[in-house]
Amino acid sequence: MSKNTKKIDTALIGCGYWGTNIAKSLITIKKTIYVFDENHNNCKILKKRFPNYINIEKNLSNILVNKKIKNIILATPPSKNFKLLKIFINNEKNIFIEKPGLKNLKDIDYFKKLKNKKILMFGYIYMFNNYIKFIKKFVSNKKNGKILYLKFQRQNLGPIRNDVSVSYDLSSHDLSILYYFIGDLPKNLSEKSYSILKKKLPDISNISAKYKNIYIDIHNSWLNPDKVRRITVVTKKKMLLFDEMKTDNKIVIYNKYAVYPKISEFNNKFFNQKAKIYFGKNYSPRIKSNNPLLDELKYFFKCIKKNNKPFTNIDFAEKILKSLDKLY
Ligand SMILES: NC(=O)c1ccc[n+]([C@@H]2O[C@H](COP(=O)([O-])OP(=O)(O)OC[C@H]3O[C@@H](n4cnc5c(N)ncnc54)[C@H](O)[C@@H]3O)[C@@H](O)[C@H]2O)c1
Repeated sequence: MSKNTKKIDTALIGCGYWGTNIAKSLITIKKTIYVFDENHNNCKILKKRFPNYINIEKNLSNILVNKKIKNIILATPPSKNFKLLKIFINNEKNIFIEKPGLKNLKDIDYFKKLKNKKILMFGYIYMFNNYIKFIKKFVSNKKNGKILYLKFQRQNLGPIRNDVSVSYDLSSHDLSILYYFIGDLPKNLSEKSYSILKKKLPDISNISAKYKNIYIDIHNSWLNPDKVRRITVVTKKKMLLFDEMKTDNKIVIYNKYAVYPKISEFNNKFFNQKAKIYFGKNYSPRIKSNNPLLDELKYFFKCIKKNNKPFTNIDFAEKILKSLDKLY
């Protein structure tokens, strides 16, 4: 136990895979934190990693009644979150809850109706990623021409969930990025998914949609031999490829595009309409990489301090859940 537990104002609930990553960033901001996990062993593993910064709490109700603990970080499975969120909100805590937050769209109504004065933020980490911020500027820049096509690929072997489908787990990230890029989400999502490991729980999902004149593909899988994290943007004048797995030059901008020439430009005698491909120079913009998780948590504490509504608030989470609700 740390010497001065009186100063600890934040508790992390859920010390699994992602909770461990959160703890690493959280202790750089808060120095010491409480942790609770229904699997006590996971708390012990975390404590072993960061012995001087972790205080294990064995009983959830101690966290609830402790008025000094004002902030809760939830890194628990979506299927458990409705109950947990309800308890913490009723105990007047500020809450950061990992994406997608809730499993059922109808559950979000319960929280929207509450007159909660505390901060409730959903953890959509890509909103804090400098590369994603760069791509947002690229797609918004009219000089690059209209956006024609967006492709998102997020594949790996695991983590394999047993409470939500691959789209709830992985497409939630890509939908949040799409929402950030275009300021809305398409209503006409269609999905082809495959439940391979377990009945009625898709491991692979292919979503396609059209938003205004933009064609969109989102491909997600937790049953894939290698880790793929890519975003492709095709505009009228340029192409962009973001490969998150690369160590450097993660974004490449291609000054190339394809067009069919106007019919009037053809010789009627030899009518053979071929698309013309234009090639220019490629380049990789210099982008300062950041630690999105750390920045996201800092933003949460800043919102608390200034009493500001977070950008990834309940309306943001609802928008994503509305799309996920249409999928498997
Ligand atoms: N932002 C990201 O990039 C990112 C990455 C991975 C996971 N996540 C999200 O984080 C959340 C957790 O995912 P994970 O990969 O860490 O899962 P995990 O299964 O590894 O960990 C979940 C932990 O919660 C604990 N737990 C379950 N029910 C509990 C309860 N009622 N009270 C206390 N503890 C409980 C489990 O014992 C486990 O230790 C999910 O919502 C997931 O979508 C986000």
